[in-house]
Amino acid sequence: MNRKNFIKNSAMAGMSFSLFPSSGIFAQGKNLQKVRLAIIGVGARGTGHLDLLLRRDDVDLVAICDVDDRVLKTAKEMITKSGKKMPQVYTGDINAWQKLVQQEKLDGVVIVTPWEWHKPMIIGALEAGIKYVASEVILGITLQDHWDVVKAAEKNKAHVMMLENVCYRRDVMAVLNMVRQGLFGELIHLQGGYQHDLREVLFNDGTSTYGHGVEFGEKAFSEAHWRTEHSVHRNGDLYPTHGVGPIAQYIDINRGNRFVSLCSFSSKARGLHNHVVKVGGNDHPNAKVKFKAGDVITTSINCANGETILLQHDTNLPRPYSLGFRVQGTEGLWMDVNNSIYLEGKSAENDKWDAAQSWLDKYDHPLWKRWSKETKGAGHGGMDFFVIHGFVEAIKRSAPTPMDVYDAAAYSAITPLSEQSIDLGNQTVEFPDFTSGQWMYRKPSFSLTDEY
Ligand SMILES: NC(=O)c1ccc[n+]([C@@H]2O[C@H](COP(=O)([O-])OP(=O)(O)OC[C@H]3O[C@@H](n4cnc5c(N)ncnc54)[C@H](O)[C@@H]3O)[C@@H](O)[C@H]2O)c1
Repeated sequence: MNRKNFIKNSAMAGMSFSLFPSSGIFAQGKNLQKVRLAIIGVGARGTGHLDLLLRRDDVDLVAICDVDDRVLKTAKEMITKSGKKMPQVYTGDINAWQKLVQQEKLDGVVIVTPWEWHKPMIIGALEAGIKYVASEVILGITLQDHWDVVKAAEKNKAHVMMLENVCYRRDVMAVLNMVRQGLFGELIHLQGGYQHDLREVLFNDGTSTYGHGVEFGEKAFSEAHWRTEHSVHRNGDLYPTHGVGPIAQYIDINRGNRFVSLCSFSSKARGLHNHVVKVGGNDHPNAKVKFKAGDVITTSINCANGETILLQHDTNLPRPYSLGFRVQGTEGLWMDVNNSIYLEGKSAENDKWDAAQSWLDKYDHPLWKRWSKETKGAGHGGMDFFVIHGFVEAIKRSAPTPMDVYDAAAYSAITPLSEQSIDLGNQTVEFPDFTSGQWMYRKPSFSLTDEY
């Protein structure tokens, strides 16, 4: 009997359920019709969330905050166009957000700032008494940051949700439905990653959001203003959550399973330097910059229930976008790169791929069936609707968020752990258990119904 079945079958699991209900350590209470929310950071991604929040009748957007007048102007224009009341605007210095979290009586706050701001802003919001905090992907920089956020959520009995939107991609959710119905058999191996040519995101001309120049840092705009520095100073899987989030849902990470150990390898770094030289010329000052982040980072993770995971971070070379999912079990597999599924005894022909689409249509997840009309116009093919929807609906019900602080920490801690592994000459490093043993008793809760 494997460990998972043992836990499922043991009397202890039944007993523990009453000790640690699925709502976890957090109390449930009132039902709200309308929630008071604020957004900190209304840049490229923040305006996407702003658009989604403005569309909802159950959201009262009472405050926004940013330090950049240009993005605030765009945000204000969007709000005016929506016909909604102009929220209070907090700006002027990098600590204006502290006044926002302390002064507005918020049901929740959505943090959409550079990675290095997430931890202080999440903890600042929790300490100001806000019970629902959503943060864009990447919880913190160091491993200790991840522990600090987990401990702050526990201490304040509050919910922290990382807005990992790929968990809601339509094909990803159809495959989740198939996994839960046992079509792939027992899962054995999973792959995914962030495989997206970011060269035009990491450099621009200081005016455009994407490309038209090779500036980064002070002279650049949007993500090139802050994100590129991470590739100068760090070597690891800098953006693991889009690949690992869906995988974690497939194999019930933090809910009967957990990541146990991790090992990372880095290739050499050429892509970003070559891009600077190609676009900006050999004499551009950034041609002298040494980028520490390898072009392709490959990470293996071992799980408590015996599955292996292969994650790749590949953002600096020419390549079409693909997250490279592979979900493989004892009965067959899905691979998103060639859009194909093979299920032994069920596929049309023995040993031949089926085009995935007919399977994905047949097993369309109930959430997508119910809400696909509302996803029209939402970012990333509609999946962004669900991640905000999940956060808002959880607040209205005073219920746990669809993904919680333990999920956020586990997905995001891959970055500092992979840096550590590479630094130690590709040593395998232990994965911390942010749930402090509760993973054995917690039950799967992500998108079990068509509600949120
Ligand atoms: N889930 C996704 O698909 C997805 C897509 C894009 C970005 N993101 C994430 O969203 C986050 C933001 O990325 P972005 O593309 O919007 O970057 P961005 O640079 O365009 O926006 C960040 C905003 O934060 C503001 N800011 C910085 N420091 C601040 C402070 N102290 N107080 C208030 N505002 C501050 C900046 O002025 C800027 O407007 C990142 O975590 C990124 O990884 C996620």
